[in-house]
Amino acid sequence: MPVQLTPRKYKVNFGEFYGIGPNGNLWVEDCDTKELADRFGTPLFIISESQFRYTYRAFRDAFRAQYPDVEILFANKSSNGIAIRHIMNQEGAGGDCFGVNEMYLALLAGTNPKTLVLNGSNKQTEELEMAVQNGLCINIDAMDELDRIDAIAKRFGKVADIGIRLKLDLDPLRDLKGVAMHGPGTLKQQSDSTKWGMSREQTVDIVNRARTMKTVKLKETHFHLSRMSNDPTSFAVMAREMITWSGYLRDKTGWIPPTIDIGGGWTFGKWYGTGPRDQLDDDKAPKATDYARLCCEAIKDEARKLGLPLPKLRLEPGRALSGPAGIAIGQVGAVKVGDKKKWVNMDLSTNHLSWAAVLNWYYHSVPVVGADREPTETVDLVGPLCNSDEVGQHRRMAKLERGDYVAFLDAGGYTESCAARYNAQLLPATVLVSGNRAEIITEREQLKDIAGRFRVPPRLLAGSFAPADEQAAVAAE
Ligand SMILES: Cc1ncc(COP(=O)(O)O)c(C=O)c1O
Repeated sequence: MPVQLTPRKYKVNFGEFYGIGPNGNLWVEDCDTKELADRFGTPLFIISESQFRYTYRAFRDAFRAQYPDVEILFANKSSNGIAIRHIMNQEGAGGDCFGVNEMYLALLAGTNPKTLVLNGSNKQTEELEMAVQNGLCINIDAMDELDRIDAIAKRFGKVADIGIRLKLDLDPLRDLKGVAMHGPGTLKQQSDSTKWGMSREQTVDIVNRARTMKTVKLKETHFHLSRMSNDPTSFAVMAREMITWSGYLRDKTGWIPPTIDIGGGWTFGKWYGTGPRDQLDDDKAPKATDYARLCCEAIKDEARKLGLPLPKLRLEPGRALSGPAGIAIGQVGAVKVGDKKKWVNMDLSTNHLSWAAVLNWYYHSVPVVGADREPTETVDLVGPLCNSDEVGQHRRMAKLERGDYVAFLDAGGYTESCAARYNAQLLPATVLVSGNRAEIITEREQLKDIAGRFRVPPRLLAGSFAPADEQAAVAAE
């Protein structure tokens, strides 16, 4: 029986399971986030289990309504806690794994390996061995990968499932300016300039060689558009080209991909805005239903034109599922007033919301207590790092004072999994909320976790503990 989900009705809803609760504070499901921050400390990541499940189901159903055979593989990299993987398993979602450790975590969580794919442009031997032994589909993205898989499969007496990552032409997107996540230029230029994917000739070569091998089974072609555009018509161009490529492979090799995996990059919008600051996703942003309609129409149309059977459709959404499920909370420290600016310092930093710095990403901010107060001033919300550490610039906020909490919404994707330790900062805890339950799913890091990794060669110990004149002698040795 699937877990029953009942969206909450708050004073103001930020999502189905986030909003301003009856006491004016920010709530997640049936928990007051002020109480969670008091109890678990800050900085803190919070994930709503119901929101995660709800968003997953909405995304899945949007595609299922348009297409006969759809499989959703959650991009584990966007939120890679083992508890999250268990939730995805219960929902019947597969997964996209990147690297040996993500694969290990997914297997540790008991995910059916047949619903997992391994992606990566430089797979290590250990990684290929784990994938072959456990039966994941390996999406080939280097010319020597097939032979390496063949050798490993022979060694283990296994037959490996393989796919091929494509370098789509994306010609119709030649002039489209997108979000500059992969450097400057048009969407096609950005896509062309990344390291990913194999050319047409290379895929023909891989398919022809694979078909002579008893150790591999060709399963799928793969592409990931990434967040270069949020426009569903760009995604439809990509989806159509997957089928065009299938037609090309049929004509050149006789093999028709039974599955196409069209990756991630799907967005979600919020009425208050989220995403890249120069191209925010608001309530006009495309929805899963828009992506599903246009992509599935394009796939069916191209398959009809080329006389191809409809393949199974796989998708690898990450942020679209994890993003709206999570928030990050920081506590206010020093409030500093300058001539032209006011800075609200917090213990939450761009170590935790790294996209704010790296991708100029906007996470909407609200005070945790009195979240419905009218904004009265413009402030920069900054973290404690030794760089400018702007987590939220030019924010209209209600007055904040030392000890207050600030929450950043829609921060469930690529926050914990991208969090850094710069300035020897400790990684935060993550709490999973379900109804009125709140449970730690990632422990807060302690000083020992950082200090414990360092080693001092004994000769340095001897030198630095010696009296000053002897230190110089040790150094000179
Ligand atoms: C191969 C692949 N699939 C899926 C994703 C998920 O992307 P998103 O979180 O934008 O949906 C990524 C992200 O980097 C990826 O590299």
